[in-house]
Amino acid sequence: MSFLGKSLLELKSLTNSDIQSVFDWASQIELKGWDIITKNPARLIALVFLEPSTRTTMSFEIAALRSGFKITKLNAETSSTKKGETVLDTLLTINAMSPDLFIVRHGTTEKLSEIALQLSCPLINAGEGVSGHPTQGLLDAYTIIKEKKSLENQKVLIIGDVSHSRVASSHFELLSKLGAEVAICGPTSWYPTSQTHKTFDSLEAGLKWCTVCMALRIQKERHRTEASEIEDQVVKRFQLNQSTLKYLSGDALIMHPGPFNRGVEITDDVLQDPRSVIWKQVRNGVFVRAALMAQILGVLK
Ligand code: CP
Repeated sequence: MSFLGKSLLELKSLTNSDIQSVFDWASQIELKGWDIITKNPARLIALVFLEPSTRTTMSFEIAALRSGFKITKLNAETSSTKKGETVLDTLLTINAMSPDLFIVRHGTTEKLSEIALQLSCPLINAGEGVSGHPTQGLLDAYTIIKEKKSLENQKVLIIGDVSHSRVASSHFELLSKLGAEVAICGPTSWYPTSQTHKTFDSLEAGLKWCTVCMALRIQKERHRTEASEIEDQVVKRFQLNQSTLKYLSGDALIMHPGPFNRGVEITDDVLQDPRSVIWKQVRNGVFVRAALMAQILGVLK
């Protein structure tokens, strides 16, 4: 498919060639510079973040500005969602002002896949509840491919609070499609209810098995009950630290989508480990998001 004028709401429906076109353009922007986009007429992008975000919002904003696009921003604290307005009505209101593209994050029960049908321009899902975070999935896959040449035969271990993670949901959609085997490791109460992946109760066994390990923070904002007891379990049994990393092979990758809670799922020294590509994930996110926005807006064809 062409991304031109289309929304990105999930990853399941993308073909391998769709995904490859995003990665190819991301790589071209990184290699040849932003000029390949900025020659084109400016478009207006509405960044609507109704849940907190640092890296997703900043990388979309930086990618948009580097690409020569104009942006306008709305966040939860300053929006009329504080007065009870729904996500649908928020987006319909902005839609009436004719942006060229929406970038939206929210955590309500409303569905972007339904809302997008009522909008006059495309929408990129920038993280929706626990259901998905497609651009994080794409940038993580891009990072693994850059480091390992391919996702074929990679064994990716997702560690920690899997059931509350929209990042994990997108990884389940994407990584197997691109040839990787995905397994999960963490407290069993945080395994997704309907999942068919290999599981590891022991971090040692999981780290010995994988070629890529990805730690997740405890998503306390999505827990119905107090998470502190399970947090203790994560620290004692599932924490990435110098002691547990001895089970990971020398050429494996250490990843984390962020934000991280140092001293809980990951320790300071792991961030400095030569196998860590955590800051590269952040950097790659700018190129992947630029490639996606530019294709959707018809600037890169
Ligand atoms: N990975 C991620 O979505 O981080 P932010 O919540 O900071 O955007």
